[in-house]
Amino acid sequence: MVTAPSIPSPTVRDTHRSTLAPLVVPDRLLLGPGPSNAHPQVIAAMNHQPLGHLDPDYLAMMDEVQELLRYTWQTDHELTYAIAGTGSAAMEATLANAIEPGDRVLVAVKGYFGHRLVNMAQRYGAEVVTIQKPWGEAFTLEEITAALKTHQPAVMAIVHAETSTGVRQPLEGVGAACREQGCLLVVDTVTSLGGVPIFLDDWQVDLAYSCSQKGLSCAPGISPFTMGPRAVEKLERRAKPVANWYLDAALLRQYWGSARVYHHTAPINLTYALREALRLLAEEGLEARWQRHQSTAEYLWAGLAELGLSCHVPQEFRLPTLTTVRVPDGVDAKAVGRQLLTEHNIEVGGGLGELAGRVWRIGLMGHNSDPQHVDTLLQALKTVLD
Ligand SMILES: Cc1ncc(COP(=O)(O)O)c(C=O)c1O
Repeated sequence: MVTAPSIPSPTVRDTHRSTLAPLVVPDRLLLGPGPSNAHPQVIAAMNHQPLGHLDPDYLAMMDEVQELLRYTWQTDHELTYAIAGTGSAAMEATLANAIEPGDRVLVAVKGYFGHRLVNMAQRYGAEVVTIQKPWGEAFTLEEITAALKTHQPAVMAIVHAETSTGVRQPLEGVGAACREQGCLLVVDTVTSLGGVPIFLDDWQVDLAYSCSQKGLSCAPGISPFTMGPRAVEKLERRAKPVANWYLDAALLRQYWGSARVYHHTAPINLTYALREALRLLAEEGLEARWQRHQSTAEYLWAGLAELGLSCHVPQEFRLPTLTTVRVPDGVDAKAVGRQLLTEHNIEVGGGLGELAGRVWRIGLMGHNSDPQHVDTLLQALKTVLD
C-alpha cells in the first residue's frame, strides 16, 4: 500500500505584519489638477453606514443622483448615471459603448488626455484617426468640420477641458457638424463639470463623462456618465455585445433604470457623497457657480501677473478651473512644488507630457474656487520664489 506523503499545514508568517498607528491624514490645500478638497458636508455625508445596493432608500438616492446629474450637465438624457470608478472608468464606458470593432474614430488631440482617448479607442478595435494641435491651443470649428468631412468617422471624441494644458475647447457647433456627418460625439468633461459652462443638449453631445473629485468637490471613485438617444440606438443595433462587461450600458441601465436588476455592488458611501456634492451644486445654482469659478480664476490671473508670472494659454481659451503658469527661466519647477507642499501644505501640479517642467498647474475647482485660497497660494508662491 502506498501511503500519501504528509503535507505540512501552513503556518501564519509575520513577514508583512506591522503594528501601524491609527491613520492620520495631513490637512492639505489641494490646488493642483485634482483631486480637489471635498466639501466638508460631502465628507460628512460619506460618514454613514452603507445601505444595501437594492434597498429602496438607496434606489431612491440613485434616482436623485441621476436627476441632479441631468441638471449639472443640462441634459435630458435618460441614460445618465454614475460609474463605479474614477474618471478613466467613465471615459472607458463612453468609448466601450460607442465604438464597435472596425469603427473609424476621430480624436481631436491637443494634450495628454486626448492621447488617452486614442489609446482606449484602439483597445476597443477602432480605426483611430487624429487631428492635432500644439499643447496650449484649441481647435476651431472649421478645423473640426474639415476633419469630419475628410475622415467620415463613426465617432468623434474631444476633451472639453484639457487638464494638461488648461485649454477650454469651444464646443458650439461641433455636435451639429457631427450630426451632419452621421457620427456620434463623445466629450470629456472631467475638468469642466461643475465649474465651466456646459450645455450638453444644446451642444448636441451624444456621450459624455466626468469625475467626482474636481469641480464637484466630492471624493474620487464615482464618475458621471451620460448617453443620449442616438448613442443608445447604436448600442441597441450592435452585432456583438460591448467588450467590457462591467461598463456595458445595456446591463447598467437595468440596474439604474426601473428594472433594478443587480449588476455590481454599488459604491454606496460614494453615492451618498456624490448626492451631497450635487445637492450643494444645485443649491448654489449653475450660473452662480460658473460665475464664481470665473471670477476666482480672474483674481488668480491678476495676482500671478503681479508676481511677474505669465499664463500659458491666451485668456480667451483659458479654463477657470485649471490654470497653467509658465515656470520662469532658471527656476526648478519640481523644487517649488515640493516646497509649497512641505512648507505650506499646498499642492499644485507640475506639467504633464510636453509641458513637463515648463508649467505649474493650479486648480481652483468646486469648493476650492475661493479668493481666500488664491491669497494663501499667492503668498506662499511669493515666499518660495523669493
Ligand atoms: C481631462 C481628463 N480626462 C480624464 C481624466 C482621468 O480621470 P481619473 O484620473 O479620475 O481617472 C482626467 C484626470 O485628471 C482628466 O483631467
